[in-house]
Amino acid sequence: MTTTLITNIASLVTNDPAQGDGTPLGLLTDAAVVLDGEKIAWVGPADKAPAADETYDAEGRAAIPGFVDSHSHLVFAGDRTQEFNARMSGRPYSAGGIRTTVAATRAATDEELEANVTHYLAEALRQGTTTFETKSGYGLTTRDEARALRIAARHTDEVTFLGAHIVPPDHADDPAAYVELVTGEMLDACAPHARWIDVFCEKGAFDGDQARAILTAGKAKGLHPRIHANQLSYGPGVQLAVELDAASADHCTHLTDADVDALAQGDTVATLLPGAEFSTRAEWPDARRLLDAGATVALSTDCNPGSSFTSSMPFCIALAVRDMGMTPDEAIWSATAGGARALRRTDIGVIREGARADLALLDAPSHVHLAYRPGVPLVGEVWQRGSRRVTAER
Ligand code: NIG
Ligand code: FE
Repeated sequence: MTTTLITNIASLVTNDPAQGDGTPLGLLTDAAVVLDGEKIAWVGPADKAPAADETYDAEGRAAIPGFVDSHSHLVFAGDRTQEFNARMSGRPYSAGGIRTTVAATRAATDEELEANVTHYLAEALRQGTTTFETKSGYGLTTRDEARALRIAARHTDEVTFLGAHIVPPDHADDPAAYVELVTGEMLDACAPHARWIDVFCEKGAFDGDQARAILTAGKAKGLHPRIHANQLSYGPGVQLAVELDAASADHCTHLTDADVDALAQGDTVATLLPGAEFSTRAEWPDARRLLDAGATVALSTDCNPGSSFTSSMPFCIALAVRDMGMTPDEAIWSATAGGARALRRTDIGVIREGARADLALLDAPSHVHLAYRPGVPLVGEVWQRGSRRVTAER
């Protein structure tokens, strides 16, 4: 196996507190990393680096672990430009817009859906994302949900069954029958292709009892829960997530003090999705409140054609710092190690011996520039599983 030494890194975020400055970012200056095949073999000061087969000079740039985008909806067709335009003229966002994408997705061929996934993944990779989770949820029939998951599973291990995204128009008169379908035949067809099960627990989507029934059925089939919780209004989603030991409660925009306490005490990560608040002109989630209470926070894109059509983790970092009370260090941790926690993974989101060789070099001297220089394409080079996948012109 070929070994590669990446040296002359001015500032390296390792997310390993045993390294460097003793903060959660484990920041090393004048650092080097050795990659061996798909794994990291060595991390430390550049002047102590072992020899390797190949050497890459980072020329004094900063490096970070590849972003872990733990929440996206990439298996879809069509777009919702008109809905976005109307919203920017004052129309409020509602869960019902999902139906537009459901119609387009059902009408699309497998090839069209696959091409879309590939396109948005390449876009995300160019911006430093080396791991992503993605969901079904725009099919809402047994056939269409299962095919969405099969397509997603060709691109990532982190696949989520979201048959309970909304009650589709064909079941509008009988939501209970739809819950029965999701927990029965649809779950049987989908479980083999997924690791996670998710529910949109919200007014206009699924209430707490329905969400509990769906997630419990998923657990019985070996899927682990994560929940779209407390996005558009206060509600039972966060408490349910903690009660069921969901890996993550996602959105967390409207939280009571009891919700914040539950997240601080349980193992459920609070995943914040600022692209959604940006694109729906909604109130920001209060990351500071969660962090000060001791909750673990992840940042993700929620990339989807309705509420957050961005694949950019750097954009989400900039929003989180500007509008959600996070420091740049906290935001970068949440977009890397936080995402890994939300997926219950220890091999990604960290630059440590034995971890997956996923990292991004920034055309900047420090990770802080991701928030300091918003909208600037700072991701220069990306290694994913030890292979150099992105090389920007300099
Ligand atoms: O996470 N909240 C539910 N699902 C998506 C929105 C999907 C859509 O509007 O198409 C979200 O924001
Ligand atoms: Fe979502």
